[in-house]
Parts: sequence; C-alpha cells; structure tokens
Amino acid sequence: MISFSHSATVFGIDACLIDVEVDISSGLPMFSIVGLPDVSVKESRDRVISAIKNSGFDFPTKKITVNLAPADIKKEGGIFDLSIALGILASSGALEKESLQNMCVLGELSLDGKIRPVKGILPIVLSLHKFGITQVIVPEKNKNEACVAKDINIYPFTNLQDVIKFLKKEIKVDTFKQKDFFTNNSMLKTSIDFSDIKGQFFAKRATEVACAGGHNMIMIGPPGSGKTMIAKRIPTLLPPMNFEESVETTKIWSVSGLIKAGESLITNRPFRSPHHTTSSVALIGGGSYPKPGEVSLAHNGVLFLDELTEFKRDVLEVLRQPLEDKVVTISRAKHTLTFPASFMLIASMNPCPCGNYGSDKECLCNPYQIKKYRAKISGPLMDRIDIQIEVSALKIDEFTSNSNVAVETSKQIKERVIKARNIQYKRFEGRNIYCNAQMGPKEIKKYCTLEDKAKVMLHTAIEKLGFSARAYDRILKVARTIADLNSSCEINAKHIAEAIKYRNLDK
Ligand SMILES: Nc1ncnc2c1ncn2[C@@H]1O[C@H](COP(=O)(O)OP(=O)(O)O)[C@@H](O)[C@H]1O
Ligand SMILES: [Mg+2]
Ligand SMILES: [Zn+2]
Repeated sequence: MISFSHSATVFGIDACLIDVEVDISSGLPMFSIVGLPDVSVKESRDRVISAIKNSGFDFPTKKITVNLAPADIKKEGGIFDLSIALGILASSGALEKESLQNMCVLGELSLDGKIRPVKGILPIVLSLHKFGITQVIVPEKNKNEACVAKDINIYPFTNLQDVIKFLKKEIKVDTFKQKDFFTNNSMLKTSIDFSDIKGQFFAKRATEVACAGGHNMIMIGPPGSGKTMIAKRIPTLLPPMNFEESVETTKIWSVSGLIKAGESLITNRPFRSPHHTTSSVALIGGGSYPKPGEVSLAHNGVLFLDELTEFKRDVLEVLRQPLEDKVVTISRAKHTLTFPASFMLIASMNPCPCGNYGSDKECLCNPYQIKKYRAKISGPLMDRIDIQIEVSALKIDEFTSNSNVAVETSKQIKERVIKARNIQYKRFEGRNIYCNAQMGPKEIKKYCTLEDKAKVMLHTAIEKLGFSARAYDRILKVARTIADLNSSCEINAKHIAEAIKYRNLDK
C-alpha cells in the first residue's frame, strides 16, 4: 500500500516541498530510501525503525521503499525522519492515510521517538502557502521560529507518539500562536560602551556616521590606537532591525543552524568577525550543499575584518561581488543560488608593515615597502569603502587624563543613529533599500541634491584633491547621512565638508 506525505528541504534560503512516498509490499523484508538522499538521510532508516518500535508500534517486516521526490534535489539531514515514520505507519494501516493530507511534516527523530529540532524551519514555513499547504508539524523547540508565518497552522510536538495520537484525533492540539516575536530574543547584553573610548573624537564621529547610514568604513592607524576597540563597540550603536530585516537575517541564520532552540526572530544586527585565516568559501559561502558564508551571516549587520592586510588576497577579492551586488551568487551544475549579503564592512589595518608610519614613533619602513603593503588591498575593494579614516595613537596625556568633559554613552549616540535611520526608512519605503549606503545611481540623483554652496565646495575639492568618480558618489551618500543626522532635507556645505574629511586616503 502506498501513502503520501509532505516534508520540505531548504534550497539556498528558500524551500522546496518534498513528497515523501512510502510503499509497503510483500517480499523479503528490506527498507530502502531513494531520491538523491545523502548519507545523513540514509541514516534515517535506523532512527525511524527504532523510533517506531520504541513508541509502541510494530515495524512492518515487509519490503519498504521510500521515495523522496523530486529526485533532482539533493537531500540532507534528518528533517524527513518524522515524515518517513508517519508514511510507514500510514502504509501499514496503523494510521489513516487521509490524516496526512495538506500537512507538511518536519522533524528529526531520536531512537526513543523524541522529535529533535531541525535547521531551516523559518524559510520552509514561510514558503508553505506558496505550495497551498496550511498546516505544519514542527519540533517543539522550533515552534517560536515557525510561528512567524502567520497564515499557517503550526502544531509543535516533542515525540512521535503524540503526533500519532493527534493525527488519530485521540488528543486535541491547539495551533501555536505568538503575538510578539521579539520578546523571546535575548536583548543585547554587554558591558562595553562607546564611553570607554578616550579621545578619538574624529574616529568616533565617523563611526556614528557609518552606523547611521550603513556605510562601509576602514580605519588605518598604528597598533594600540583603539581600532579594534571602536569596531567592537559598533553593535552598541546600531538600531534594531525592522521586521522585514529580521526575517531576512533569521532565514539565513536558520538554514545555517544558528537559531538556538526556543528562539524566534533575531532582532539585533549581526556582528561577524571572521579570523584572518578564514577561507574564501567560509567568507562567501559555498560547498556541495551551498551554505551561506560570513558575508551572508552578516546580512543587515556588520562584517568586521580586523587587520585587513593579513587576509589572503584571494579571500579579499571575493568580497567585491557582495559589496557591489549585496548578494552572493553560487553556481552549481544544475542550479544557481543566491544568498543575500548586504552588510556594513568595517575594516582595520596598520599604515605600514612596522605600524608606526604617521605616528610619533619612528617608522622603519621604506616607501617601497609601504606601497607594497597598501597595495595588498586592491583599488576596487578600497573604492567600495565609503568612509576611510586615519586613527592616530592617543597622546599620553589624553590617555591618563581623567577630564570631566562628559563623554557620550552608546545610548546617547544610538538615539541619533535611530533618528537618522528612521528618516531613511521613510525615504526608501517599498524599494528594498533600508539605508543611504544602499542607494544606487538613481537614488543618489534623486535624494542627494546639494545647496549651491555645497556644489561649489564639492567641485573645488574634486579638482584640488583629484577624487575618482566613484569617490564622488561615496561623498554624496555620506553627506546625505550627515544631513540626516542633522534632520536636514538639503545637503549643505557643512555636510559636504565633513564627508570629504572621511576620504582621507584618496588624497
Ligand atoms: N582611545 C582609547 N581609549 C581607551 N583605551 C584605549 C584607547 N585606545 C587604545 N586603548 C587601549 O589599548 C588597547 C589596544 O587597543 P586596540 O583597540 O586593540 O588597538 P588597535 O586595534 O588599534 O591595535 C585597548 O584594549 C585599550 O585598552
Ligand atoms: Mg586591533
Ligand atoms: Zn613603518
């Protein structure tokens, strides 16, 4: 007898519905799974046999064939376990076949019949309505993630026995609903604050502007000048994500298996700081089952590359595509996948091999060495960084002074950042753009109009300092953000002057 049920698998950050067909016929007892399953799916056999037996049911000693369709999609992991187990019970008559109709079943089984959480629940559940499915059985630990899909009835379970009782209508289970997805998330608890940083007013203001507009920033300065310290405090300045941003980011984290049991949407912007020994696949994503890389895990948040020159050249080169396109495209023989990768790049580097160039200490490097060192960061990569500043070492008296000048806290700066971001949300409503840094040429033309004096100033600067055409657009975008921080519609000369200061390295 044949039974049919639905399960699903992730494909990039979208989902594919998988039909789970189970046929039980007389013949030598055997149990096979077909339909491009990988090793981890084949292991499902042993789990399903034990789980069914340990839940108090007979496992049919007949010829069992499970087909996972469509066959051209590679299948991985234990997500089909529960669906296979129910299919076997339905085919053997222990369960009515109709009970599985219009239902998607997701969950890995443990040997004793418990249901384990799985990866990718959010993208799967969000795409179910597209397949005309309105009900889904999910592992209890994934229920908070699943219930973000409002139009789907969610039935969470902890073990196989209860699922069977539910399908046989022996017990009643309410669909799981949650009003507020955000309350479940651990709010950012951190002891670090922007007020820990002494002096460095220029770098701190540049960081505020970067956070307000989502701009990429590179800090160049001698060791110990506080570059890492500033970068690590950026999460304390960033505004929370809006609902759409949260869903986008959570989908990526979900398929990567990074959503902890019981968690719902991620609300804090991600802050990823991969080590400089990282590979280009780890950074950009890929593999035989393409997985998002660091650039995608940082989507809507920050990718911090500390000591940029230490990264391998090929690793830095792969950054160019996501920086320009805001997505990563991974091509495989049959399919092409894209992962979103719109992040704020924050980078730091020393000014020269010895680190002392431009500081009070003596630099031991010759001009050739310095040039070679800086050339490690290619022009095209540098071109995509809106804010480029030098961070000088603190003077000894700045360090030791306990001056009473009130230093602003992260909370105070964050308030301004949020205000500026809210202006941007309104400006770009319905365009899939969230901040000034994401503006394309069309938006720049429309929203970066300059007052006359500002125009003159920018033209003079370009002539005198020889900015490239790319730099020109970068200055306009950053100036737009500075104007937003001042709640100003027009961009005036003061805003332009400040934006030009953040192009230190073009000069
Ligand atoms: N502006 C500053 N205010 C307070 N402490 C600082 C500052 N700059 C550097 N430090 C101290 O120096 C240490 C090294 O700073 P770090 O951020 O690692 O420098 P960099 O990354 O530029 O080499 C920090 O842990 C901090 O204790
Ligand atoms: Mg450092
Ligand atoms: Zn040097």
